Amino acid sequence: MDQVEIGRFIAVLRKQQNLTQIELADVLGISNKTISKWECGKGMPELSLMMPLCESLKINLNELFSGVKLTDTDYKKKVEENIMKLIEDAEKTKKNVVGGKVLGKVANIDMDVSKTHKTNTEFWNTIGSEFLGVTALPSWGGYLPSELKLNLLGDLSGKSILELGCGNGHSLDYVAGLGAKDLWGVDISANQINKTKSYLSSQKISANLICSPMEEECGLPTDYFDIVFSVFGVGWTTSLDQTFEHVHSYLKKDGIFVFGWSHPIHKCVSIEDDKFVFSNSYFNEEWYCADMSDKEIMLSNRMLSTYINTLARNGFAIESLIEETDKERAISSGTDFGKKALMLPTAFIIKARKL
Ligand SMILES: C[S@@+](CC[C@H](N)C(=O)[O-])C[C@H]1O[C@@H](n2cnc3c(N)ncnc32)[C@H](O)[C@@H]1O
Repeated sequence: MDQVEIGRFIAVLRKQQNLTQIELADVLGISNKTISKWECGKGMPELSLMMPLCESLKINLNELFSGVKLTDTDYKKKVEENIMKLIEDAEKTKKNVVGGKVLGKVANIDMDVSKTHKTNTEFWNTIGSEFLGVTALPSWGGYLPSELKLNLLGDLSGKSILELGCGNGHSLDYVAGLGAKDLWGVDISANQINKTKSYLSSQKISANLICSPMEEECGLPTDYFDIVFSVFGVGWTTSLDQTFEHVHSYLKKDGIFVFGWSHPIHKCVSIEDDKFVFSNSYFNEEWYCADMSDKEIMLSNRMLSTYINTLARNGFAIESLIEETDKERAISSGTDFGKKALMLPTAFIIKARKL
């Protein structure tokens, strides 16, 4: 499919129907930004919208896929061409899982650090906030057992603590409640930093907050922290090596680093018609760009061995690797995500110590 051509075709037909982007979006029950994205050739309508779109534009599906109006003679030839292209596209399409959500079409990309930071910052400055709430201590996220049961952070009284990807600040509040004295947070999103700031000040807690990618030098003190932790933050880094090297430098000797993230096996398996389907290769660590509502995110799936070997390379000893599911919660959720968590780990936590 030539998305750019199809996009131009949609724009021309919309104007011929005297519809603005907003009016067409209203008819389809979507946002005008989505229409604009199609028209710029940056995406195709999802399956459920294709027929209603064709109806609004007074064309058929074959014409939409061809990006032109068709005469009777062209019609059959184009049908065959379009079927072949659809099969080709379907073969190229991998599925990927983020949290409990299966993302449809994902495109592999050559990772560019500044583009990735820009895209992900935009996501976290806007709709990403809606996804927060379940990834803050004492929850380690997903169906992982809670910190109340695992006690990975240990005694926090009087400790200096840094959180990577501090989001809405609830985890820092939690560690403050357990006696941590010196709190620091880093986050790439100014919006999240502001949320942390206002949430902590509403709780009368003070913290040093830095707006920066965790993988970059950002003025944090070295040989200073007792604990560095992250709840569903570390996987966003564009460089695991740089991140772990920095964390190693921030920690005191014997300081601990604990982080949780989506389990890579979970990210390869989707549920389709009540069946577990391997829809991506566990070994695939390529970067991809995917749509999340109206925004894009850029991520890569890293194998568990990549996390472990990168920690080892950067001077850490692994103390524990948690791959458990809180079965009661998974069963009572009644969701596909919960069903899956009973079959395989959907998230993991690693606790490592600076050597
Ligand atoms: C899933 S959220 C978890 C946040 C936190 N645990 C919470 O629940 O509030 C991930 C956070 O990582 C931040 N983030 C994404 N990429 C980052 C990067 N490269 N460096 C630092 N923070 C990043 C996002 O802005 C977001 O706040």
